[in-house]
Amino acid sequence: MIRPERPDDHDAVRPVVAAAFVDEPLVPDLVDLLRSSGAARAGLVAEVDGAVAGHVLLSRSWVDAEPSLVEVLVLSPLSVAPEHQGRGLGGELVRAAIAAAGEADSPALFLEGDPGYYARFGFRPGADRGFLAPSARVPGPAFQVVVLATHEEWMTGRLVYADAFWQLDCVGLRGERLRSVRAALGAD
Ligand SMILES: CC(C)(COP(=O)(O)OP(=O)(O)OC[C@H]1O[C@@H](n2cnc3c(N)ncnc32)[C@H](O)[C@@H]1OP(=O)(O)O)[C@@H](O)C(=O)NCCC(=O)NCCS
Repeated sequence: MIRPERPDDHDAVRPVVAAAFVDEPLVPDLVDLLRSSGAARAGLVAEVDGAVAGHVLLSRSWVDAEPSLVEVLVLSPLSVAPEHQGRGLGGELVRAAIAAAGEADSPALFLEGDPGYYARFGFRPGADRGFLAPSARVPGPAFQVVVLATHEEWMTGRLVYADAFWQLDCVGLRGERLRSVRAALGAD
Protein backbone atom coordinates (compact mmCIF):
# COMPACT_ATOMS: atom_id res chain seq x y z
CA MET A 1 0.00 0.00 0.00
CA ILE A 2 1.30 3.46 -0.94
CA ARG A 3 0.09 6.42 1.12
CA PRO A 4 1.20 9.95 2.04
CA GLU A 5 3.65 9.99 4.95
CA ARG A 6 2.53 11.45 8.27
CA PRO A 7 4.73 13.16 10.85
CA ASP A 8 4.47 10.07 13.05
CA ASP A 9 6.07 8.01 10.24
CA HIS A 10 9.37 9.91 10.42
CA ASP A 11 10.97 7.61 13.00
CA ALA A 12 10.08 4.54 10.93
CA VAL A 13 11.22 6.10 7.64
CA ARG A 14 14.76 6.92 8.81
CA PRO A 15 15.98 3.30 9.25
CA VAL A 16 14.47 2.33 5.89
CA VAL A 17 16.40 5.12 4.18
CA ALA A 18 19.57 4.22 6.10
CA ALA A 19 19.29 0.55 5.12
CA ALA A 20 18.66 1.35 1.44
CA PHE A 21 21.59 3.80 1.32
CA VAL A 22 23.97 1.84 3.51
CA ASP A 23 26.99 3.18 1.56
CA GLU A 24 25.76 6.80 1.67
CA PRO A 25 25.31 7.60 5.37
CA LEU A 26 24.26 11.22 4.83
CA VAL A 27 21.06 10.35 2.96
CA PRO A 28 18.86 9.96 6.09
CA ASP A 29 20.12 13.40 7.20
CA LEU A 30 19.19 14.75 3.75
CA VAL A 31 15.59 13.66 4.35
CA ASP A 32 15.58 15.40 7.75
CA LEU A 33 17.14 18.59 6.37
CA LEU A 34 14.78 18.76 3.39
CA ARG A 35 11.90 18.54 5.86
CA SER A 36 13.25 20.97 8.48
CA SER A 37 14.34 23.56 5.88
CA GLY A 38 10.86 23.67 4.40
CA ALA A 39 11.91 22.34 0.98
CA ALA A 40 10.05 19.02 1.31
CA ARG A 41 6.68 19.12 -0.42
CA ALA A 42 5.43 15.54 -0.17
CA GLY A 43 6.55 12.21 1.15
CA LEU A 44 5.05 8.84 0.33
CA VAL A 45 5.51 5.58 2.16
CA ALA A 46 5.06 1.99 1.03
CA GLU A 47 3.57 -0.10 3.80
CA VAL A 48 3.87 -3.87 4.08
CA ASP A 49 1.96 -5.60 6.89
CA GLY A 50 1.48 -2.26 8.61
CA ALA A 51 5.19 -1.35 8.65
CA VAL A 52 7.10 1.17 6.51
CA ALA A 53 9.03 -0.75 3.83
CA GLY A 54 9.74 2.06 1.35
CA HIS A 55 9.77 5.83 1.08
CA VAL A 56 10.14 8.62 -1.45
CA LEU A 57 10.47 12.35 -0.92
CA LEU A 58 9.54 15.17 -3.29
CA SER A 59 11.09 18.54 -2.63
CA ARG A 60 11.02 22.00 -4.15
CA SER A 61 13.80 23.24 -6.40
CA TRP A 62 13.82 25.69 -9.31
CA VAL A 63 14.50 25.84 -13.02
CA ASP A 64 16.38 29.04 -13.77
CA ALA A 65 14.46 29.90 -16.95
CA GLU A 66 15.24 33.11 -18.80
CA PRO A 67 11.89 34.87 -18.08
CA SER A 68 11.68 33.79 -14.42
CA LEU A 69 12.48 31.12 -11.87
CA VAL A 70 10.11 28.16 -12.14
CA GLU A 71 9.31 26.05 -9.09
CA VAL A 72 9.73 22.35 -9.85
CA LEU A 73 9.98 19.15 -7.86
CA VAL A 74 12.90 16.79 -7.28
CA LEU A 75 12.37 13.12 -6.48
CA SER A 76 15.03 12.18 -3.93
CA PRO A 77 15.74 9.98 -2.15
CA LEU A 78 13.87 6.81 -3.19
CA SER A 79 14.37 4.00 -0.68
CA VAL A 80 13.12 0.44 -0.38
CA ALA A 81 14.32 -1.65 2.57
CA PRO A 82 16.69 -4.33 1.24
CA GLU A 83 14.47 -7.20 2.37
CA HIS A 84 11.57 -5.76 0.34
CA GLN A 85 13.48 -4.90 -2.85
CA GLY A 86 12.64 -6.49 -6.20
CA ARG A 87 8.90 -6.83 -5.51
CA GLY A 88 7.68 -3.71 -7.27
CA LEU A 89 7.54 -1.33 -4.28
CA GLY A 90 10.08 1.05 -5.83
CA GLY A 91 8.06 1.17 -9.03
CA GLU A 92 4.83 1.85 -7.15
CA LEU A 93 6.49 4.66 -5.22
CA VAL A 94 7.86 6.26 -8.41
CA ARG A 95 4.48 6.08 -10.17
CA ALA A 96 2.72 7.54 -7.12
CA ALA A 97 5.35 10.31 -6.91
CA ILE A 98 4.78 11.27 -10.56
CA ALA A 99 1.03 11.35 -9.92
CA ALA A 100 1.53 13.48 -6.79
CA ALA A 101 3.75 15.92 -8.68
CA GLY A 102 1.05 16.26 -11.35
CA GLU A 103 -1.65 16.81 -8.73
CA ALA A 104 0.53 19.53 -7.19
CA ASP A 105 0.58 21.26 -10.61
CA SER A 106 4.36 21.03 -10.78
CA PRO A 107 5.58 21.54 -14.35
CA ALA A 108 8.40 19.01 -14.04
CA LEU A 109 9.79 16.30 -11.79
CA PHE A 110 13.57 15.75 -11.83
CA LEU A 111 15.88 13.11 -10.43
CA GLU A 112 19.41 11.75 -10.58
CA GLY A 113 19.48 8.03 -11.20
CA ASP A 114 20.05 5.06 -13.46
CA PRO A 115 18.08 5.50 -16.71
CA GLY A 116 17.98 1.71 -16.91
CA TYR A 117 15.57 1.86 -13.99
CA TYR A 118 13.74 5.17 -14.40
CA ALA A 119 13.07 5.17 -18.18
CA ARG A 120 10.25 2.63 -17.65
CA PHE A 121 8.31 5.27 -15.71
CA GLY A 122 8.64 7.90 -18.44
CA PHE A 123 11.77 9.72 -17.25
CA ARG A 124 13.93 11.07 -20.10
CA PRO A 125 17.33 12.79 -20.19
CA GLY A 126 16.88 16.39 -19.03
CA ALA A 127 19.13 17.60 -21.85
CA ASP A 128 16.56 16.34 -24.41
CA ARG A 129 14.19 19.06 -23.13
CA GLY A 130 16.89 21.72 -22.87
CA PHE A 131 17.41 21.42 -19.12
CA LEU A 132 20.90 21.78 -17.65
CA ALA A 133 22.01 19.66 -14.70
CA PRO A 134 22.74 21.38 -11.36
CA SER A 135 26.36 20.18 -11.52
CA ALA A 136 28.82 18.91 -14.12
CA ARG A 137 29.26 15.98 -11.72
CA VAL A 138 25.85 14.56 -12.68
CA PRO A 139 26.56 12.18 -15.59
CA GLY A 140 24.40 13.32 -18.55
CA PRO A 141 22.12 10.25 -18.84
CA ALA A 142 21.57 10.22 -15.05
CA PHE A 143 19.99 13.69 -15.08
CA GLN A 144 16.37 12.88 -15.85
CA VAL A 145 13.00 14.57 -15.98
CA VAL A 146 9.31 13.96 -16.53
CA VAL A 147 7.55 17.06 -17.81
CA LEU A 148 3.98 17.40 -16.56
CA ALA A 149 0.74 18.99 -17.71
CA THR A 150 1.52 22.55 -16.57
CA HIS A 151 4.92 22.66 -18.31
CA GLU A 152 5.34 25.31 -21.01
CA GLU A 153 8.09 25.46 -23.63
CA TRP A 154 9.81 28.51 -22.08
CA MET A 155 10.29 26.68 -18.76
CA THR A 156 13.78 25.48 -19.51
CA GLY A 157 17.23 26.24 -18.12
CA ARG A 158 19.41 25.05 -15.28
CA LEU A 159 17.98 23.04 -12.40
CA VAL A 160 18.86 24.78 -9.13
CA TYR A 161 18.64 22.42 -6.18
CA ALA A 162 17.31 23.33 -2.77
CA ASP A 163 20.09 24.24 -0.30
CA ALA A 164 19.86 20.98 1.61
CA PHE A 165 21.37 19.01 -1.29
CA TRP A 166 24.42 21.31 -1.30
CA GLN A 167 24.75 21.54 2.49
CA LEU A 168 25.16 17.77 2.66
CA ASP A 169 27.15 17.47 -0.59
CA CYS A 170 24.44 15.23 -2.07
CA VAL A 171 24.66 16.61 -5.62
CA GLY A 172 26.08 14.35 -8.33
CA LEU A 173 29.02 12.04 -7.77
CA ARG A 174 32.73 12.43 -7.10
CA GLY A 175 35.97 10.53 -7.62
CA GLU A 176 36.01 6.88 -8.62
CA ARG A 177 32.21 6.55 -8.32
CA LEU A 178 31.75 9.38 -10.82
CA ARG A 179 34.27 7.82 -13.22
CA SER A 180 32.75 4.34 -13.03
CA VAL A 181 29.13 5.55 -13.43
CA ARG A 182 30.17 7.74 -16.38
CA ALA A 183 31.86 4.73 -17.98
CA ALA A 184 28.86 2.45 -17.29
CA LEU A 185 26.43 4.96 -18.81
CA GLY A 186 28.72 5.77 -21.74
CA ALA A 187 28.52 9.39 -20.60
CA ASP A 188 30.72 12.40 -21.40
C1 LIG B 1 16.26 1.42 -6.51
C2 LIG B 1 15.19 0.85 -5.59
C3 LIG B 1 14.37 1.98 -4.96
C4 LIG B 1 14.26 -0.03 -6.42
O1 LIG B 1 13.24 -0.51 -5.57
P1 LIG B 1 12.61 -1.98 -5.81
O2 LIG B 1 11.38 -2.08 -4.98
O3 LIG B 1 13.67 -3.00 -5.59
O4 LIG B 1 12.27 -1.87 -7.36
P2 LIG B 1 11.17 -2.63 -8.18
O5 LIG B 1 10.86 -3.94 -7.51
O6 LIG B 1 10.05 -1.72 -8.48
O7 LIG B 1 11.94 -2.88 -9.52
C5 LIG B 1 12.91 -3.86 -9.58
C6 LIG B 1 13.59 -3.75 -10.91
O8 LIG B 1 14.42 -2.59 -10.90
C7 LIG B 1 15.74 -2.98 -11.22
N1 LIG B 1 16.65 -2.07 -10.51
C8 LIG B 1 16.72 -1.86 -9.19
N2 LIG B 1 17.68 -0.95 -8.94
C9 LIG B 1 18.20 -0.59 -10.14
C10 LIG B 1 19.22 0.29 -10.55
N3 LIG B 1 19.92 1.03 -9.68
N4 LIG B 1 19.50 0.38 -11.86
C11 LIG B 1 18.80 -0.34 -12.77
N5 LIG B 1 17.82 -1.19 -12.44
C12 LIG B 1 17.53 -1.32 -11.14
C13 LIG B 1 15.84 -4.41 -10.77
O9 LIG B 1 16.87 -5.09 -11.42
C14 LIG B 1 14.47 -4.92 -11.19
O10 LIG B 1 14.45 -5.13 -12.59
P3 LIG B 1 13.40 -6.08 -13.32
O11 LIG B 1 12.05 -5.48 -13.08
O12 LIG B 1 13.80 -6.03 -14.76
O13 LIG B 1 13.58 -7.40 -12.66
C15 LIG B 1 15.79 -0.02 -4.45
O14 LIG B 1 16.58 -1.04 -5.06
C16 LIG B 1 16.65 0.76 -3.47
O15 LIG B 1 16.14 1.28 -2.47
N6 LIG B 1 17.97 0.81 -3.73
C17 LIG B 1 18.91 1.50 -2.86
C18 LIG B 1 18.72 2.99 -2.88
C19 LIG B 1 18.79 3.55 -4.29
O16 LIG B 1 19.67 3.23 -5.07
N7 LIG B 1 17.80 4.42 -4.59
C20 LIG B 1 17.67 5.04 -5.89
C21 LIG B 1 18.69 6.13 -6.02
S1 LIG B 1 18.49 6.98 -7.55
